Amino acid sequence: MELHDKSIIVGVTGGIAAYKAAELVRLLRKAGAVVRVAMTEAATHFVTPTTFQALSGQAVFVDQWDARMPNAMAHIDLSRQADLIVVAPASADFMARLAHGMADDLLATMLLARDCPLLLAPAMNRQMWENPATRRNVAQLRADGIGILGPACGEQACGEVGAGRMLEAEEILEEIEAFLTPKLLAGKRVLLTAGPTFEAIDAVRGITNLSSGRMGYALARAARHAGAEVTLVSGPVAFSAPAGVDRVEVRSALEMHAAVMARAADADIFIGVAAVADYRVAKVAEHKLKKDHGGVPPIRLLENPDILAEVAALPRAPFCVGFAAESRNLEAYAQNKRVKKKIPLIAGNLIQDGFGGDANCLILFDAAGAHPLPPGPKTRLARQLLEHVAQLCAARDAN
Ligand code: C5P
Repeated sequence: MELHDKSIIVGVTGGIAAYKAAELVRLLRKAGAVVRVAMTEAATHFVTPTTFQALSGQAVFVDQWDARMPNAMAHIDLSRQADLIVVAPASADFMARLAHGMADDLLATMLLARDCPLLLAPAMNRQMWENPATRRNVAQLRADGIGILGPACGEQACGEVGAGRMLEAEEILEEIEAFLTPKLLAGKRVLLTAGPTFEAIDAVRGITNLSSGRMGYALARAARHAGAEVTLVSGPVAFSAPAGVDRVEVRSALEMHAAVMARAADADIFIGVAAVADYRVAKVAEHKLKKDHGGVPPIRLLENPDILAEVAALPRAPFCVGFAAESRNLEAYAQNKRVKKKIPLIAGNLIQDGFGGDANCLILFDAAGAHPLPPGPKTRLARQLLEHVAQLCAARDAN
């Protein structure tokens, strides 16, 4: 998701993880958000307001009595302009003050006066996190409707190991994007395939393709952000599993087929994004084939099962979406594929510059015809495709 029309306040409190907040501000701006930073006085001992001012491109607020606000109402005015406030790091002391409704500095006052959602990314020593007082405060903050992100487990700045480490800036960004995405797929179970498959020839060689897995992974993330429970059956790719997504790693088309068929009956939506090899090698050599034994090895191929068509043919089939990458005649080939596989929707793209890039051109084909999406990054296309899926699902459920 891009955060283009979003206004986000980042609150920074006093803890060594404040340095990670600088990276968070940078990432939020890169994603298009307008970011304003409000710091506690303690936070300024770790990172200076100048750093945040440079990264956010906006004046930083620390002092409750800031003369820049002509009406002395910074605490009200700031939060009124915001879609979301994120406090990162949130120290144990700050959470205690917040849980008790204190208004003893600008940030605390602003949070008490806010009318927008609030997320906290706690950061503290593991013993402080486990202390009954902190447990009580966190429970109270959750009960007050405040979102708590993390904390993570691991090595801490103090040298101890345990829970209390602030999430990394990328992880907080991911949570913010998820939080701000409309929950169009709430309660839905989405199953996807992504990436290439690898069909072994011998112990070290195989047949594969150049699918990067980017589109499938972008769709898995977008579905998670839209509130779905997501399972991603993935061929070999270079990415780690998206946060909150259950990933099943497979290699061959047969493994992908088995992993999907074991889960398809429980899915509400199935999206086949993987570039599944059409054929596999009939007899895989146990050892590496040697060049000096008997000339060119004959490789006999067998047809792989069509996973998407099989899922679509299930008695209570999920809503099925396919992909069609074509080098020409896109509309005719894609619509033909949609009808042949008996699926309601197929996303077609013309392969111009090969597989694997960040951007894409997609045209959606359904029973009503063609719906071109504006060219853009795969993250945006993924969101738009899911919006179309949600609409068609809603129409189907209404009938
Ligand atoms: O038949 P074709 O490979 O052109 O169709 C592409 C669509 O079908 C994609 O959605 C792909 O994930 C899916 N597919 C599949 N199993 C196959 C071949 C393709 O699920 N064996």
